Parts: sequence; structure tokens; C-alpha cells
Amino acid sequence: MSIATAPTTLPQANEPCWCGSGRKYKRCHKKLEGRVLQGEVSPMRLVPDHIARPPYADTGEYEPWEEDRIKSPEIIEAMRHSGKVASTVLREAGAMVAPGVTTEEIDTFVHERFIELGAYPSTINYHGYPKACCTSINEVICHGIPDSRPLIEGDICNIDVTGWIGGVHGDTNATFFVGEVDPESRQLVQVTEECMWLGIEAAKAGQPLSDIGRAIEDHAKKYKYGVVRAFVGHGIGEQFHTDIQVLHYYDSRSSVIMRPGMTFTVEPMITLGSINYKIWDDDWTAVTSDGKRTAQFEHTLLVTEGEPEVLTGGEGAASPFAPWNR
Ligand code: MF3
Ligand code: CO
Ligand code: CO
Repeated sequence: MSIATAPTTLPQANEPCWCGSGRKYKRCHKKLEGRVLQGEVSPMRLVPDHIARPPYADTGEYEPWEEDRIKSPEIIEAMRHSGKVASTVLREAGAMVAPGVTTEEIDTFVHERFIELGAYPSTINYHGYPKACCTSINEVICHGIPDSRPLIEGDICNIDVTGWIGGVHGDTNATFFVGEVDPESRQLVQVTEECMWLGIEAAKAGQPLSDIGRAIEDHAKKYKYGVVRAFVGHGIGEQFHTDIQVLHYYDSRSSVIMRPGMTFTVEPMITLGSINYKIWDDDWTAVTSDGKRTAQFEHTLLVTEGEPEVLTGGEGAASPFAPWNR
């Protein structure tokens, strides 16, 4: 099936569908009204030779290795830098979000900006993923592929960027408003960011990882929101995803004790309705099974003896509800 982009004005039920099938609209694409439609994905962009490449960049595959959970001072210093780079790119990409802008335009910016800052956009060819970031709109939970679909007034748009520089990854995302957004979605986005911060604040040395999920779930429950279980936060460092799993809901089995020097992400996905998901036929895009909206925020952090250090945070990070902005 070829991919058609929906027009801005939709036909009446009995008029021919906009996709050119010749069928009546009501018998064709009407059931997808209000859903995010797939656009066209352009070919993978090249990363120039002067940018160092992670092991998977050429093949799309790699063997994970056992990486120390406690990072050396050198790795930590490198991660402070990769975190800063990712947070800069996210902030600038977020400023592009507006009605009519395509997610492909955002991706092109993210791609070029990482390169300008000397970083490899980590997602390119990671398990074959084709783009420099993920753009997840409305009911898309995560891993949306940037494409030709223009953003529409009222959408919520998550941008997830990861850069590899100095041999380490920095991973961060935020959900942005496209023009005027309805109050229900605004609250979802605000509470999702609060969930992330409460999860980050629970990252205390000596405590089990399950404290993070508990803090997030307790807050989401107050609003009767769902906490996605199928996708989790992860250890990060020289590898994009290491063996540490950070659940965003409470599970007593998540008993790994947090130690100073550990680095991982906290990236809750919170839903207005069901937490069940489906995957589009592009094998990446995860959407809620009921089509209701979902939001996400993500930071990479370092566990310390005291407060966690937010490696993708700090002044200017795309986080209106961050503790330092409250
Ligand atoms: N940045 C995502 C995360 O937070 C991972 C994207 S992997 C991709 O873990 F292959 F989908 F790009
Ligand atoms: Co991540
Ligand atoms: Co991410």
C-alpha cells in the first residue's frame, strides 16, 4: 500500500476519499480521522567521515558487551559533555515546533546540529533505525520516525535526541505543544514532566531502582493516568542501552541498588487512556491501542552521594517544570 498524506480539509462522508482509492471517504480513511497519519520517510542521511562512528553505525547490528555499571571519572566527564550536546540540540529542535513544520524538517536540523557539535546522531542505523531522532505525536508513545507529515495546530510532539561523542551517549526528550493545545493534553504533558522529575529525585544512592517507578506511578495515579510498561528507562554510557532497566511503575523485583557512578535514563511515558500499544507496519512507531494521547520526558542522570546529577539538564534544558524553574 502506498502512503498518502491527508489534506487539511477533509471530505464529507459520502465524497470520494482524499487518498485516491475511488471509495467513499466513510468507507476508506474516515476511521483514521483524528489519528496521526503516516507520511513518507526520506532515505537515511549520511554522517560525514570526520565524525567518529559508534560500532553499529555501518552494519546496523552489534553485539552488546558487559559494561561497568559504575562509570570511571573519565567516562563521567565525557558523559557530561555528550549530555550537554544532546540537551542543546533538544532545546533548539523544540524551538522549531510549530504548525506546518514537518517532522522531517526537525530531523534534518537535529542531524546537522549534532554533526556541527562533533557528535554522531546515535539513532542513525541503531538496529537499522533510519533517522537522527524520534518524533512521537499525539497517540504515538515513542519511536515515531520523522516523515513528511506537517505538524497540526493542537498536536503534542515529543522529540527524542541522542548523541554519541567522546565515546559515550547522551539521551534526552521532551514533549512540545504545537500552537494552542487543549487543556486535557496540556495537563497530560505537565504531569508527565512532573512524573519524570519525581522519578529523578527518587534516584538516591543506597535505594533500590524500584523507588523511581513508585514515585512516578504514585503521581500519575492521582490523575488516573496510565504508566506505559512496555518501554523502560535504561543504563547508558559507552552503549546506548545497557543492562540496567528503569521501570516507570512500581515492581518490588526491581531491586538493583543505586550506587554513586551509575548512569541511566528516566523517561516515563504517561497515557490518558490505555497503556497497551500497537506497532505500525514500519516496525518502529508505537501507538496507544485506543488512540488516546500520551506524553514523555527523558533525562540521562548520574547517581551521586547526594542529589542525582542531570547530565542532560542544567540551565536552558527544555524543561519548563524543572526544579530550578519552579
Ligand atoms: N532515544 C530512545 C530512548 O530513549 C531510543 C531510540 S532508539 C531508536 O531510549 F532506534 F528508536 F531510535
Ligand atoms: Co532513552
Ligand atoms: Co531517548
